[in-house]
Amino acid sequence: MKKTALVSGITGQDGSYLAELLIEKGYIVHGIIRRSSSFNTFRIDHLYKDKDILNENLFLHYGDLNDSSNLNRMVEKVQPKEIYNLGAQSHVQVSFEVPEYTAEVDAIGTLRFLDAIKDTGLKTKFYQASTSELYGKVKEIPQNEDTPFHPRSPYAAAKLYAYWIVKNYREAYNLFASNGILFNHESERRGKTFVTRKISVGVSKIVLGIEKNISLGNLDAKRDWGYAPEFVEGMWRILQTSDPADFVLATGETHTVREFVEKAFNVLGEEIIWSGEGVSEIGVLKRTGQQVVNVNERYFRPTEVDLLIGDYTKAKQTLGWEPKTKFEDLVSIMVMSDFKKIKQRNNL
Ligand code: NAP
Ligand code: GDD
Repeated sequence: MKKTALVSGITGQDGSYLAELLIEKGYIVHGIIRRSSSFNTFRIDHLYKDKDILNENLFLHYGDLNDSSNLNRMVEKVQPKEIYNLGAQSHVQVSFEVPEYTAEVDAIGTLRFLDAIKDTGLKTKFYQASTSELYGKVKEIPQNEDTPFHPRSPYAAAKLYAYWIVKNYREAYNLFASNGILFNHESERRGKTFVTRKISVGVSKIVLGIEKNISLGNLDAKRDWGYAPEFVEGMWRILQTSDPADFVLATGETHTVREFVEKAFNVLGEEIIWSGEGVSEIGVLKRTGQQVVNVNERYFRPTEVDLLIGDYTKAKQTLGWEPKTKFEDLVSIMVMSDFKKIKQRNNL
């Protein structure tokens, strides 16, 4: 008999890759989508429009992490063997603008899901999308499952509650509930307001002559960037264990935003020269002298996470999980994908 999985956040970057993976593995996937005034299913349209997949292996339901009755009904009706809670207000900077909403969805939304499982008494496995943002002002380098947390945003504080309530329900009610503490993972499906995709789109447009420059915030921030399809495979592995536990998924490498910009231009055969400091820093094209990058304070955060680098030893040893895509390849995959799409769209 086919296994059934329920996925919140199926329309997001990770949800779309996870849905593909689960369908490939023979699961029946039920996804929670939000009502929106415009189409928000573009990342799963290729699955959604395949009529053989839709109605057979993929079922979409309207729902929201803010609506407990909806989550209760969903768990009751679908009776999933596995639940992946990927739905979230996932943008760190936006969380400073909508802190209460972020807490409702990211923190209390997780509690609502766990309560739905507890109240129905369903034997299911629950995956929580926890995050390296929990480490915030980092207490050690690299960060692993035992590193203390120090959240630096309303998003991270909400995810901290979610992390602990997952652990508490595991201990208190014996639920199979696991946290994946995932470091940044990107792809050609990454939302365009996250820095990597903003750069891959911006650099492509500059090289194609469609835009003159991109404005960025903190160029010194360091992140451990991996490739999203590999990370959703890790999520699945976390639920295939016999006992629930928490795992770091990361690449073990860290790079600055500035390096991401440099590599992105390199992919398209250009070189960047930097000058100035702080908000006065600019990047110019070595070949032409054109100013293509500037710093704008509006992208600075009230509190920043300066450096993230993960230690995925536990995942490697217990799950046999390892990242494959290196930083330079990730930049290349993202830039080439955007460059081709933008070129085609503009008949260039
Ligand atoms: P994403 O692309 O922003 O997707 C977020 C998903 O959550 C979307 O499907 C969104 O629906 C849905 N959502 C937002 N508010 C919701 C609500 N109130 N009720 C139900 N669904 C809601 O994020 P992602 O990069 O795929 O990340 C997936 C999860 O992993 C998130 O929980 C994120 O916080 C966490 N995470 C991500 C990373 C990373 O580097 N990508 C690292 C660590 C942890 P719409 O499409 O309708 O907006
Ligand atoms: N978004 C954005 N836009 N970030 C910028 C910019 C810009 O113009 N310029 C510099 N940055 C810096 C941010 O200040 C941050 O230090 C870094 O680039 C990465 O920012 P994001 O790409 O927005 O990602 P994030 O690290 O804050 O959060 C992502 O990763 C987390 C895991 O660590 C999100 O996917 C979270 O949901 C996830 O939990």
